[in-house]
Amino acid sequence: MSTTALALLTAPWAARAVTAAVRLGVIDELAGAPVSAADLATRLDLHEPGLQRLLRLLAGLGLLRTGAEPGTYTLTDDGAPLASDHPRSVRLLAEFYEEDYVRAAWASLEDGLRSGGPPFVAAHGRPVFDYLADVQERAARYTAAMAAGSRFGDRLPAAVDLTAARCVVDIGGGDGSVLAALLTACPQFQGILLDRPDVVPQARAALRDAGVADRVRVVGGDIFEPGAIPRGADAYLLSRVLHNWSDDRCRALLDTVRAAAGDAGGRVLVVERMIRAGAPDGPEDLLPLLFDLHMLVMTQGRERAEQEYVAMLEAAGFAAAPAVALPLGFSVLAGTPGG
Ligand SMILES: C[S@@+](CC[C@H](N)C(=O)[O-])C[C@H]1O[C@@H](n2cnc3c(N)ncnc32)[C@H](O)[C@@H]1O
Repeated sequence: MSTTALALLTAPWAARAVTAAVRLGVIDELAGAPVSAADLATRLDLHEPGLQRLLRLLAGLGLLRTGAEPGTYTLTDDGAPLASDHPRSVRLLAEFYEEDYVRAAWASLEDGLRSGGPPFVAAHGRPVFDYLADVQERAARYTAAMAAGSRFGDRLPAAVDLTAARCVVDIGGGDGSVLAALLTACPQFQGILLDRPDVVPQARAALRDAGVADRVRVVGGDIFEPGAIPRGADAYLLSRVLHNWSDDRCRALLDTVRAAAGDAGGRVLVVERMIRAGAPDGPEDLLPLLFDLHMLVMTQGRERAEQEYVAMLEAAGFAAAPAVALPLGFSVLAGTPGG
């Protein structure tokens, strides 16, 4: 008999085990030379027999491999991004998905499927960004986790020809990690980052840490407010923004971006995980479907297929080039005025 159903039902245990290993510091300790459970237990003040079993499971999941010394473990290439100091670390995402308010939203999935309303609103009484505006510490962790999930800014210049561009507006840019990586790769760029007012101090700090603060103007505001999108830039980046919103709001936002781009050729760059046609054929195809349900739970948006974004861009007056792959399963779609 197939064990697929059982493997799926127990998959949340694997995620809990990974998060526990991250939170307890086990993963960071395993990022270097191989370590035994006994050494780890001493270093981290943990209970060795339980730790032994956790390590065995993490190895079974492909995140650890055994070292030359019997009983020692170290991270595999698949496990490495869970460590804090990995250049594309997803550690903060491991913590974010286990936040109690995120889990509470997922616990309302059935409500949402009955009512058609967003599960996040059923759980917390208001949409996610209104909720975050009232819980500053959680909001800061949310913004940092989003940054951890979007380490692809350095790859944008290879995916889209930006050689003629000078000014890029990052709409809903979060803490500016994507913009900072893009500006570091493109020394000729100046940037404007637009996000909710309570995100502004975190963005300023992150841009300062990245050494690009003097090339970026950070603006606090509402992307849907008339006049919020700065006019006349060469590129308008919408990185993981459209998937938070309904088709109607996306169309309204793209119309505003098209108007702000004017007739000087300013392009729009849409970065999302795009749903592929046909039956899923491996984890790359499954991830957009999983994140689509996460969007259903957390936001008023959804993940979409490339063709859906192309149609939205065309409706707003942009001609779209074919999407180009980025790390972490993302793609970028560039739209040029005149579609
Ligand atoms: C999923 S995050 C993406 C952040 C960043 N672009 C990235 O790719 O990592 C969505 C961002 O949209 C911002 N946002 C949501 N609603 C907004 C609004 N009405 N006005 C301005 N920013 C908004 C959030 O604060 C958040 O930083």
